[in-house]
Amino acid sequence: MAESMSGLHRTHRCTELSKENIGQTVTVMGWVQKRRNLGSLIFIDLRDRSGILQLIFDENSVGSEGFAKAGELRSEYVLAATGKVEARSGAVNKTMKTGEIEIVVESLRILSESQTPPFPIEEDCNTKDDLRLKYRYLDLRRPNLQRNLMLRSKLTTMVRNFMTGEGFLEIETPMLCKSTPEGARDYLVPSRVHQGSFYALPQSPQIYKQLLMCSGYDRYFQIARCFRDEDLRADRQPEFTQIDMELSFVDAEDVMDVNERLLAKVFKELCGIEVKLPIARMPYAQAMAKYGSDKPDLRFGLEIVDVSETVRGCEFVVFSSALEAGGVVRGINVKGQGKMPRKKIDAVINFAKGVGAKGLAYIALAEDGTIKSSFAKFMKEEEMSALIAAMDGKPGDLLIFAADKEKMVCDILGAVRLEVAKMIGLLEGNTDFKFVWITEFPLFEYSEEENRYVAMHHPFTMPMEEDLPLLETEPGKVRAKAYDIVLNGTELGGGSVRIHQSDVQERMFRALGFTTEKAYEQFGFLINAFKYGVPPHAGLAYGLDRMVMLMTGSDSIREVIAFPKVKDASCLMTEAPGTVDSKQLEELGLEITIHED
Ligand code: AMO
Ligand code: AMP
Repeated sequence: MAESMSGLHRTHRCTELSKENIGQTVTVMGWVQKRRNLGSLIFIDLRDRSGILQLIFDENSVGSEGFAKAGELRSEYVLAATGKVEARSGAVNKTMKTGEIEIVVESLRILSESQTPPFPIEEDCNTKDDLRLKYRYLDLRRPNLQRNLMLRSKLTTMVRNFMTGEGFLEIETPMLCKSTPEGARDYLVPSRVHQGSFYALPQSPQIYKQLLMCSGYDRYFQIARCFRDEDLRADRQPEFTQIDMELSFVDAEDVMDVNERLLAKVFKELCGIEVKLPIARMPYAQAMAKYGSDKPDLRFGLEIVDVSETVRGCEFVVFSSALEAGGVVRGINVKGQGKMPRKKIDAVINFAKGVGAKGLAYIALAEDGTIKSSFAKFMKEEEMSALIAAMDGKPGDLLIFAADKEKMVCDILGAVRLEVAKMIGLLEGNTDFKFVWITEFPLFEYSEEENRYVAMHHPFTMPMEEDLPLLETEPGKVRAKAYDIVLNGTELGGGSVRIHQSDVQERMFRALGFTTEKAYEQFGFLINAFKYGVPPHAGLAYGLDRMVMLMTGSDSIREVIAFPKVKDASCLMTEAPGTVDSKQLEELGLEITIHED
């Protein structure tokens, strides 16, 4: 029978007690983590979000009724206990924060009973993810998740304090918005009043925050919920949270400066990590060439080397034909891995094929000077030596090569670089936090699907002044005043300087293939707003979930979100999304047709 807590007042959380409290009478409340019944003594490990405290029941202190009740306690029962703090009668437990003390219980109330949970509530449980997520309310009791969410709460508090101190105002923006193209797919909400019309949930507060600058709020921030209907990955959820900001009368440098100080503060105070300022910067082109990625992991080398000129005209057709077709040949020197077994090399090749490679060519240089290679037979000896020299290949090294269109080679070697690092354990025990700003992004990328240029960041991103003349002639070459902050291979945040001159904005829309009418139809309110005096402005948004993921060393943002979705964007606990009854649909004027594919 569950008892009430009336008349009782909790005096401490479990681990707020220590040696200092010995002799005091206290009241604690929490869940039963573990019980040991020694006959005349019952030990209970009591758990709350602060940690664990040992309770001891003996009949002399708690009375016979209390002792009988203690005998009924099972895992996850919720109890209140009043008793005296004493030094441990048994051995001190050095691994516990409260390992020097115990509570000798004088009165016990069972506040709630529990069924046997479907998995044990403990630090590192091996329970399958699906079961954990179905019973997320139990999963969330585990100390790992509690630590993650507590750190997340500290982070948002710290961000709020920092931003406020820097003169930012916290302003909320709508969740029910107008659908605008460009970017990911929208989540739509049907309107009851305007049947056939839909709101879109915001992919980000981008347009609103620019309007706030237009309205003179000068510096805005928000811990903003965003929604994107895209394929989920370890670092992607359909709804996620941004630390979003926008600043007036600033250039890229000012945004980067305030953000470097923010990053240095939160990483130092929450994780004890010194972020060396200023944070290194790397132009996009260099990141792609050296790391095959616009979010390079700089904790290890394995840099990509272009050997196109060295192998141009060689007899290996895979190389020469790729070059003739306007492609490139690039390689990675995997230092000291010349002895990698054939099976492992094949695994790397298969991995590369999985990410789109037609193949991967390799040269394994043995310590004794002999060479094993998938393509040596197609090359002249001097071509081979020139290639090895270009890769700085030394006995004991493994050289791997990809030949294809440039973008493809970047993608392949970028992915292979990370895979090989994982395979050979380059990151084991690595505790570095390598931040880098990626700058000078292309303004546009060409969409084969839409047969036009699309904005790489968004259509309000300012081109670099020196590239403005190319906007009409060579849009593919125009670089943007955009910047991403990357940490250990994850894009933590990104932003840009925005266009505030209507003539530049019009040229931008034209380059994107928008007619004036279409631009007005979609962004008319923004274009009009900018006719009434708009300050130069710029901003940035972090993925808060990703930041907490990296701070806590988690391998997915699911571990830092209280109620996340799974890969198919459903929630295993609530079973959202769900069907609705026909009356609801009728009110909205909707009919359902299900497409089987
Ligand atoms: P962007 O689209 O780059 O920029 O988003 C900013 C940051 O949000 C995080 N993020 C995500 N996190 C989890 N799940 C997702 N599906 C997801 N998508 C993005 C990333 C990313 O760096 N309005 C602009 C910012 C600006 O220009 O000021 C924007 O939204 O960490
Ligand atoms: P083949 O002539 O098909 O036997 O290929 C010779 C070697 O070149 C094999 O090791 C292939 O894996 C490799 N190879 C094939 N296509 C490519 C490519 N696009 N880039 C690099 N190596 C490749």
